[in-house]
Amino acid sequence: MKSSKKVIEESDNLLATTTRDSDLFPLVIDHGEGVWIYDIDGNRFLDFTSGIGVNNLGWPSHPEVIKIGIEQMQKLAHAASNDFYNIQQLELAKKLVSLSPGNFEKKVFFSNSGTEAIEASIKLVKSVEEKRKYLISFIGGFHGRTFGSLSLTASKPIQKARVGPLMPGVYYVPYPNPFRNPWHINGYEEPEELVNRVIEYLEEWVFGHLVPADEVSAIFYEPIQGEGGYIVPPKNFFRELEKLAKKYGIYLVDDEVQMGIGRTGKLFAIENFDGEPDVITLAKALGGGIMPIGATIFRKELDFKEGIHSNTFGGNALATAIGSKVIDIAKDLLPHIKEMEKIFKEELSNMKVDDVRGIGLAWGIEFIKEDRKPDVKTRNKVIEEAFKNGLLLLPAGESSIRIIPPLVIEEDEAKEGLNKLRKIINSIR
Ligand SMILES: Cc1ncc(COP(=O)(O)O)c(C=O)c1O
Repeated sequence: MKSSKKVIEESDNLLATTTRDSDLFPLVIDHGEGVWIYDIDGNRFLDFTSGIGVNNLGWPSHPEVIKIGIEQMQKLAHAASNDFYNIQQLELAKKLVSLSPGNFEKKVFFSNSGTEAIEASIKLVKSVEEKRKYLISFIGGFHGRTFGSLSLTASKPIQKARVGPLMPGVYYVPYPNPFRNPWHINGYEEPEELVNRVIEYLEEWVFGHLVPADEVSAIFYEPIQGEGGYIVPPKNFFRELEKLAKKYGIYLVDDEVQMGIGRTGKLFAIENFDGEPDVITLAKALGGGIMPIGATIFRKELDFKEGIHSNTFGGNALATAIGSKVIDIAKDLLPHIKEMEKIFKEELSNMKVDDVRGIGLAWGIEFIKEDRKPDVKTRNKVIEEAFKNGLLLLPAGESSIRIIPPLVIEEDEAKEGLNKLRKIINSIR
């Protein structure tokens, strides 16, 4: 029975979503199995989106995560977790503290989403010192859509439309995008040079003209910009940023909401850059595709003052029991992800695209025109044709596609999807 059309019609009439595009994706999901998604009309799709980094362990989730979830649900789910204690949140906190980079004492705050993990970070860093109230984030960065996190977001103007002014005291700086160098749009320079430019920009222009460095509380960054287009910065960027931050006593907040939990072949994406942030945010994949969860891991000295921050559901027993299992499985999957990385790197590098970048199973491909302007039309056409051919892809940035299959993808599935993608691109370009 063909019924997707009716569901879409009724949904568009009744549900207040603003990012769904029924022309591009007339997809009503019925169920999923591993890397495959089935719609209610019986069509099958190979998933290269992981529900935007949530279903990292496959659809509907990893069998072991489902098992733990059911067991925990039968025992205890909500546990008034910020007022009483439960063992599950303690165990997950222990794992996050011991596995995250940084050889210093840490604490954890649990919430229900990425944006909440960022909001908690904002309160943490701003409440340390009376004088330091300013924040810095990167152009192209995405940190969420509530007022604090939206203020740090500098991805697309539409995301901030009609609701401003937002939280004051945020300055935005260029991100070191090697393919779209903010200073040499048409040129190429050594990645280290690009990093120097960003650091100089911060020191000379931001601290020199806009805000005194000793009034800046923190710099927020994504280790790889996700919504911004899967932009991988030069390898030494975060080490240099850390030197600068240390010099001026500024904290670094690493937003791993999209890139964390194994996506890049390391548990935390910042480990690929040898970074040691003061605060790390997680969400999406930590919930195993089942429970909403957010986590803010931070240097102990930043700790919240009494009563400053809390919520109702954060750290509930079900979400944190699932989170612990997700971490265990993701850890075991890391060698597999590095194996799969080779296939994606090799195959994508041989496609007719203008840029390929990525680590682990986080890849971006970009389309530009002869004048280097974004080739949005080609990008959208590739996504549309892929969908018609049973391959699910999502856009990112101005004219890029993100390729983020579930981490459990096997070689034959990866090759099937990549072959399909190559044929589609060849038929369009
Ligand atoms: C890097 C990053 N931070 C924060 C968020 C916000 O997370 P949520 O949608 O769970 O609020 C996202 C969502 O895409 C994200 O990619």
